[in-house]
Amino acid sequence: MSFPNHNDRHAWTTRLLNADNDLAEDLSVSPPLHQSVNYAVLSEEHLDEISGPLGSHYYTRRGNPTGARLAKVVADLEGAETGMVFASGMGAIATTLMAFLKSGDHVVGQKNHYIGITEMIDRILPDYGVEQSRVDQRSVDAFAAAIRPNTKLIVLESPSNPLMHVTDLKAVCDIARARGIVTLCDNTLATPINQRPIELGVDIVMHSVTKYIGGHHDLLAGCIVSSRPLVEKVWNLSMVTGAIAAPFNSWLALRGIRTLELRVRQQNRNALAIAERLEHHPAVLKVFYPGLPTHAQHRLAAEQMSGFGGLLTFDLKGGYGAGQSFIQKLRLARHASSLGGVSSTLVQPATLFGGRLPSKLVEEQGITPGLIRFAAGIENTEDLVADIEQALG
Ligand SMILES: Cc1ncc(COP(=O)(O)O)c(C=O)c1O
Repeated sequence: MSFPNHNDRHAWTTRLLNADNDLAEDLSVSPPLHQSVNYAVLSEEHLDEISGPLGSHYYTRRGNPTGARLAKVVADLEGAETGMVFASGMGAIATTLMAFLKSGDHVVGQKNHYIGITEMIDRILPDYGVEQSRVDQRSVDAFAAAIRPNTKLIVLESPSNPLMHVTDLKAVCDIARARGIVTLCDNTLATPINQRPIELGVDIVMHSVTKYIGGHHDLLAGCIVSSRPLVEKVWNLSMVTGAIAAPFNSWLALRGIRTLELRVRQQNRNALAIAERLEHHPAVLKVFYPGLPTHAQHRLAAEQMSGFGGLLTFDLKGGYGAGQSFIQKLRLARHASSLGGVSSTLVQPATLFGGRLPSKLVEEQGITPGLIRFAAGIENTEDLVADIEQALG
């Protein structure tokens, strides 16, 4: 017995609340937390049934009912057949890269990615014999030119963290598909509310669930969604490498995802209001937000996104010191590394990444000393803008 199936024509929040109805076997309105690692085997046939790829009722490293429900809701939102969950966004991306690349293969990435992904492609994979190229994501031709006979995977992120560059997802995926190359897109910053890469031709979508999907600064998780054969390929590695999401984190993320649309709409509104206010502020050199008509890639962003997201970056005229002073004076937003939660957070990427990364990468990423990455929460828009204005003096 389960709840009736949702109707695909429903709007996002209705889908978010009902996409996993067929898994609600006990009819509990709030999903149970399946903390058990082991599930009893009744017979040989039963073992086959529960332990296969993406099986969720045998041993939690191979899958877990609470994680499977979360994956189902994300897959539904992204328009994918199925999905699986990981211990973190990096767990998801690292496992997927390893599943699709072996020694002698070539991967194309972007110059701008979340820094952990840049490090994976630039520093870790070459140690395992994988060749890599990273290109300026703003140029479709640069992707085409980077492809080699041994290219197996193209890794995309749009908009990218932290400078909000945009990739023409459809154009790059058309090129990749014509050559039989798999595409993987990090959709963390956009969220499926604002952008659905699978509809644009992407093969695999990944999320740091830690960010907007979880949404409350209280869990670490990741996920991928795609067609069943591609997810099974990743599962085959993951059941050995074991970076699976803890059931409790999946449960928290399931609770968080129900309000994703409501939160993201407010975060879109807040980020746009801040970007508009800062664009002409005397203390600000430049604002990076694809929702601004003055953003060089605004037209492309407007074509492939239905909202521009809650993250924006701006460069302060006073450089590093001005950034530090701005952070200290803020009363609402917190100086903290993550993004996508209900309360606003911000970082100065020069401090976050600068000490840890080779200067070549910092420069290449366009990280200047006065840069601030601001992740708008769901606070009242006027309160947030007023706080930023008082902190800028
Ligand atoms: C765009 C993006 N992708 C991936 C990650 C990595 O996710 P996690 O911290 O959950 O491993 C992050 C983290 O900040 C991110 O911002």
